[in-house]
Amino acid sequence: MLIRYNKNHEKIAMGLLSFNPDEKDLQKLLQTINEYVSEQNRQLYLWKEEEGMIGVIGVKIGEIEIQLQHLSVNPSHRDKGFGKRMIKELLELYPDKKLTANETTETFVEKFDTEQTLQEENKKEHPLSVY
Ligand SMILES: CC(C)(COP(=O)(O)OP(=O)(O)OC[C@H]1O[C@@H](n2cnc3c(N)ncnc32)[C@H](O)[C@@H]1OP(=O)(O)O)[C@@H](O)C(=O)NCCC(=O)NCCS
Repeated sequence: MLIRYNKNHEKIAMGLLSFNPDEKDLQKLLQTINEYVSEQNRQLYLWKEEEGMIGVIGVKIGEIEIQLQHLSVNPSHRDKGFGKRMIKELLELYPDKKLTANETTETFVEKFDTEQTLQEENKKEHPLSVY
């Protein structure tokens, strides 16, 4: 489940954020966290599983769009669908907004969009199937 970031999560959030390509040095990470805390249109969430926090997702919230700025999952939990589940749950919090990406999140958002569209098409073609 998604948990809204607070100061108690600082260390784990920085550790998870450091998997993002542009967040490799400590100064940059501190600046990034600070922006999420201080700027009203930015929001950071962690993904909690039984074993603890395993992912982080950060967004910039606009009037009509929500831009994915950071997304990372602990390497030992990758390829299990958490990245996509985090985006899905996030969009449920902002149902009226369209998901957009930045340079680093672009390819994953494209993959997410393509798979969502395919699932929607499948549902229309096979309305009684369970997904
Ligand atoms: C990107 C990331 C969050 C995906 O998390 P995840 O929990 O493994 O994602 P899912 O299990 O939902 O999806 C895995 C699929 O996404 C693909 N994928 C991983 N990173 C990708 C990327 N940057 N662009 C496009 N596809 C990507 C995987 O190859 C896999 O493909 P498949 O379903 O066809 O096998 C994770 O790989 C990560 O933390 N990467 C380092 C951080 C990073 O690069 N962030 C910027 C990109 S969002």
